[in-house]
Amino acid sequence: MKKLKVMSVFGTRPEAIKMAPLALELGSRPEIESLICVTAQHRQMLDSVMDCFGLTADYDLNIMGRNQTLTDVTVRALKGLEDCFKTAQPDLVLVHGDTSTTFSASLAAFYAKIPVGHVEAGLRTYDRYSPYPEEMNRCLVGRLATLHFAPTARNAENLRAEAVTGEVFITGNTVIDAMKYTIGDGSFNSDELKNVNFSKKVIAMTCHRRENYGEPMQNIFSAVKDIAQRHPEAEFVYPIHMSPIVRDAAHGILDGQDNVRLIEPLDAMDMHRLMSRSYMVMTDSGGLQEEAPSLGKPVLVLRRETERPEAVEAGTVRLSGVVKEDIVRDAELLLTDADAYDAMAKAVNPYGDGNACRRIADAILYNAGLKEARPDEFRI
Ligand code: UD1
Ligand code: UDP
Repeated sequence: MKKLKVMSVFGTRPEAIKMAPLALELGSRPEIESLICVTAQHRQMLDSVMDCFGLTADYDLNIMGRNQTLTDVTVRALKGLEDCFKTAQPDLVLVHGDTSTTFSASLAAFYAKIPVGHVEAGLRTYDRYSPYPEEMNRCLVGRLATLHFAPTARNAENLRAEAVTGEVFITGNTVIDAMKYTIGDGSFNSDELKNVNFSKKVIAMTCHRRENYGEPMQNIFSAVKDIAQRHPEAEFVYPIHMSPIVRDAAHGILDGQDNVRLIEPLDAMDMHRLMSRSYMVMTDSGGLQEEAPSLGKPVLVLRRETERPEAVEAGTVRLSGVVKEDIVRDAELLLTDADAYDAMAKAVNPYGDGNACRRIADAILYNAGLKEARPDEFRI
């Protein structure tokens, strides 16, 4: 029997973390030939994830440049993928989420008339500039794809309201599957984490988004400095994204503050373990908003909006925004009011149950006529 050739394309750290367990699942299916193409929109941060999950790319476009623009990434990925698809001739291309790699891969596959499956489909803020450019990327990918793997029922409703072409499956988010690999025994690889005093109120933080560049990011870092100065019992651990814009902003405001540890990006295992041992999380990342609630850690989101309202509604995530005073107020409440903290520190899993990859692989086979039954749906 000829195998179904499924090529997963990804390029950045979060795509890799969320596609890794799926690539492993696809590789375990006898009906599927699983291929990986990385654009390497991120180089070091991508390689770290590949190492963590023991994955090797079949094709590596190696496109990253320092301070790359959105156009740089899109053009390089589009051209590289045209050639890659011509050589590999996949039956189906899988993309993830909403990055420039995601959009370019979907467009390149469409140009080559190869069907596209979109993993983590249907997240929306309905604000085309926030997150920027991700909201537009995922809307465009929604038009290009014909298989849509929506993490939640709400994401699926969004897609149906847009009358997307093809099939929508509710699968849960593969990030919850990824955590089955990463949490392990909780021990750290990074020496910097081995020195953290976890008897303090450790705040795991990240901040990198383009729409926060400039004033919002300065507000966020000033708030962190303020909180750190007022609360010596707290300790921030902030693995800084490799973007030079983010690094300069963070070091400029936070260098010299004793209880703010600015460290190198962590591998996925260490990051998940850091969160699981922290008091709370402050972030503008999408992935952390999904991971921390499953660990029972309160999350303050350093953005004006979120495409992930499920955990806000469950009460474990609060949208703090990008105004300094608002961030300081929300963080101080969690640091000083035990009842407020306890109300947020409960484990909820609105984003998945650890079976998303199994459902996606089954849906692919069902869609190809290689499996009779439609997969079950993820329900909260
Ligand atoms: C990208 C995604 C964003 C995602 C984020 C995850 C787009 C438009 N944005 O944004 O959706 O949330 O990744 O982190 O696709 N760099 C390195 N080494 C690395 C990674 C990055 O040096 O391993 C530096 C490079 O100088 C690069 C810069 O970071 O030019 C920015 O990377 P880029 O992928 O363009 O943007 P992100 O902000 O990472
Ligand atoms: N992450 C990591 N090391 C770090 C910071 C984050 O492994 O130093 C993980 C994090 O746990 C999550 C993913 O990277 O799984 C989120 O990626 P990122 O914040 O780069 O992008 P976003 O989620 O905002 O798209």
